[in-house]
Amino acid sequence: MNKKTEQTIPQPIYRHDYRQPDYWIDKVELAVDLHDDVTIVRSILQIRRNKDTASEGQPLVLNGEKLTLKEIALNGQPLPESAYQVDREALIIFSVPDHFELSTVVAIKPHENTELVGLYQSNGNYCTQCEAESFRRITYFLDRPDVMATYSTTISADKARYPVLLSNGNRVATGELENNRHWVRWEDPFRKPSYLFALVAGQLVCHHGTFKTMSGREIRLEIWVEPQNIDKCEHALLSLQKAMQWDEQTFGLEYDLDVYMIVAVNDFNMGAMENKGLNVFNSKFVLCRPDTATDDDYEDIEAVIAHEYFHNWTGNRVTCRDWFQLTLKEGLTVYRDQRFTADMTDFALKRIRDVKKLRTLQFAEDQGPMAHPIRPESYIEMNNFYTITVYEKGAEVVRLYETLLGKEGFAKGLARYFEKHDGQAVTCDDFRVAMAEANQIDLTPLDRWYSQAGTPVCEVRGRYDAEQMTYTLQVTQSRAPTPAVQPAFMPCLIPIRVSLFDPKGQALPLQLADENVPIGEERLLSLSETQQQFIFVNIPQEPVLSFLRGFSAPVQVKMQRPREHLAFLMAHDNDSFNRWDAGQILAQELLLNLAQDWAAGRELKLDPLFIQSFGKILTDSRLNPSLKAMAMMLPDEKFLGQQIEPIDVDALYEARSFMTRVLARTFRRELLALYQQYHSTSPYSNSRSAIDARRLKNTVLRHFLTALQDEEVIALIGQQFQHADNMTDMQAALSCLMELEIPEREQALQQFYGRWQHDPLVLDKWFALQASSSLPKTLDRVLSLASHPDFNLRNPNRVRSLIWTFCSLNQVRFHSADGRAYKFLAELVLELDRLNPQLASRLVGAFNQWRRFDKLRRNLMESQLNTIIAQPNLSTDVYEIVSRSLN
Ligand code: PHE
Ligand code: ZN
Repeated sequence: MNKKTEQTIPQPIYRHDYRQPDYWIDKVELAVDLHDDVTIVRSILQIRRNKDTASEGQPLVLNGEKLTLKEIALNGQPLPESAYQVDREALIIFSVPDHFELSTVVAIKPHENTELVGLYQSNGNYCTQCEAESFRRITYFLDRPDVMATYSTTISADKARYPVLLSNGNRVATGELENNRHWVRWEDPFRKPSYLFALVAGQLVCHHGTFKTMSGREIRLEIWVEPQNIDKCEHALLSLQKAMQWDEQTFGLEYDLDVYMIVAVNDFNMGAMENKGLNVFNSKFVLCRPDTATDDDYEDIEAVIAHEYFHNWTGNRVTCRDWFQLTLKEGLTVYRDQRFTADMTDFALKRIRDVKKLRTLQFAEDQGPMAHPIRPESYIEMNNFYTITVYEKGAEVVRLYETLLGKEGFAKGLARYFEKHDGQAVTCDDFRVAMAEANQIDLTPLDRWYSQAGTPVCEVRGRYDAEQMTYTLQVTQSRAPTPAVQPAFMPCLIPIRVSLFDPKGQALPLQLADENVPIGEERLLSLSETQQQFIFVNIPQEPVLSFLRGFSAPVQVKMQRPREHLAFLMAHDNDSFNRWDAGQILAQELLLNLAQDWAAGRELKLDPLFIQSFGKILTDSRLNPSLKAMAMMLPDEKFLGQQIEPIDVDALYEARSFMTRVLARTFRRELLALYQQYHSTSPYSNSRSAIDARRLKNTVLRHFLTALQDEEVIALIGQQFQHADNMTDMQAALSCLMELEIPEREQALQQFYGRWQHDPLVLDKWFALQASSSLPKTLDRVLSLASHPDFNLRNPNRVRSLIWTFCSLNQVRFHSADGRAYKFLAELVLELDRLNPQLASRLVGAFNQWRRFDKLRRNLMESQLNTIIAQPNLSTDVYEIVSRSLN
């Protein structure tokens, strides 16, 4: 991050400008001396000229930011000042030999570091965060992922205050020093880019275990946490063991070092970081106990632990040539963690959750000012491109390979990728080529998924011809409009899974016009042109179409169809994803109509067909309870907002509340029965069935019964809150109370605060719950919570729990027509930008959709964005987001 001054407008860098570095660094020896006032970093680099690019005598330009250079020597000889130059971003040595050793000594000040990149402190301990470009805040270096070196790191510090000293690789030596100091040396035998470097020092304790690899090696697994958290590590350890085993079984990938360490820190900008052999985690994705963390938290922890572990192969062993290739490691690793979670939990449930997230957040990003291809063409600040597009859409694109090649073909391709590229820094093209080679198939048509921004839209028309007994599917593709200018849309290769059902709900055998016999009851169609036709023959009666089953490609579907077809699919589709989706589409259609009716002052009425279909789901005893909960949930306001322009926040809120109330009243008896059936009186268990039960009964309570606001329901909520022996039930009850204007609400909040004020992760929930309430007074509550003694701008989790929850997830209250919330956010962003630009830039993204709102809100948001951009010394992070938004 660089500061934007009025004189310098930050300039983008372009993917096409990539060239190899002029020098390579093969070996790094670091000595890091941690002291209260200053940290001294000595580095010895073995450097050689890159014969492919650099002519002799080319200057050496090393990245370095916020470093104070103390000493510099080349091959042991101190350099005179005339031989080099230091500025805010670089150290330039004018003339160097072909091979040499460069030694530098720099001073840094981790205790002043509020940005949480480079070396910083969290709760008095030291830790590092180097991805993407922050190793340069630790020492001078060629800080780019294609420069791979081996690292040896010696850390020294006060023995009492920093008894634990960790870095990547293996601990090879330790020793004592004067003044109660000690040192530890680590060596990482694997070459790695600088962004995977890590160092941790502090008062930490370790929860450990082991893993026996498939080749029989025993790996030591260590979870390092602050002492008070030692009883919250077992789930993380189990998750790690499961992930290791899964990767061996699924892809034959084994861990390579002898020790795998995870450190949990409280102050972290992101979720977690895959540093080689030494992951640093946001404590939120490590620590849990049944009474402090919910079932969803447990699932998130398992997924993030697995994600970081999977990076050891997809990211670390094979890394990215440059940051434009980020999706190479992130899309692939998200795909891997999604499959892992599906195997650990339930395939359909996981798929539904992932697609929901993609459609709500990524589709919105694609339609806003930040629209970019999964492999961006340019950026000003790389940190702004750790996006839902690069990650989640990237994972969908990886899934396209699986869909086209099958699971086995995919595994073969992945094996080929490692065989060719282990130890290298490569590109998305290299991945595609490896996949193609292993399967002897041309995959160049997939390239457009990497180069084009925006969501493809498939328009579908099905026509039945009774005389010919044919069913003709006409499919076109185009792109959903994007405000940012994009090159003309070129058609993509879109794999589409389809089935046809007869009126009894039987899937029909499918035979295309040019085939002799039917081949299965589900077909994979390849749409590669702007417009294509698929003709199914021998179809005895008008069928019901199930399109894009399992969400076989990340596209929007537009299709006119009778509501009866949707209701039919809700009841009969044998693809669980599409069965769920049919309900969502139907609910969405009705909600959007209701919102229009509300805005026009018309009386609201709910289509009996939907009530009936909802009732069937409610009483379907074969449906897994988690899936049932998913199916009952109405599309959220934010998602609905994306389907209309301008977004009418009040109408959507009223429409959704109305639908909820009608369903709750109509099915009061059934809902109460479900609640009772699944409300366990036995003690907490984390078995799948116990989790499913909690999910269903809490959905019933929070999303339906609470709307009734009657005494019986209030009593149920109160009882659940008072007697819960786990955080899932406790939080669910409290979130019900957040919707009710009753004395118990404030009592419960106080009680919860009293019990958990010393546990930061639980206190985050307390802030988030209040911020997510749909009560009109929420805005005032949030404003006052922002000056609560426990609110703290320096802790990203706390900021996200209050500010992000409110500004991004609470559509109806954030977009209050008086514009107070906008002003609040803008001021907060500016204050935060001085402390932590990365976090500020995430938050300001809450304005990204501003053009989609009504004129009043549009103007209010625009004026806040203008205030922000007018600020001198804005970070490049915030500058990039806001300038794109205003362009
Ligand atoms: N590479 C991390 C992951 O997705 C995310 C991350 C990016 C963390 C940048 C910190 C900084 O696993
Ligand atoms: Zn990742």
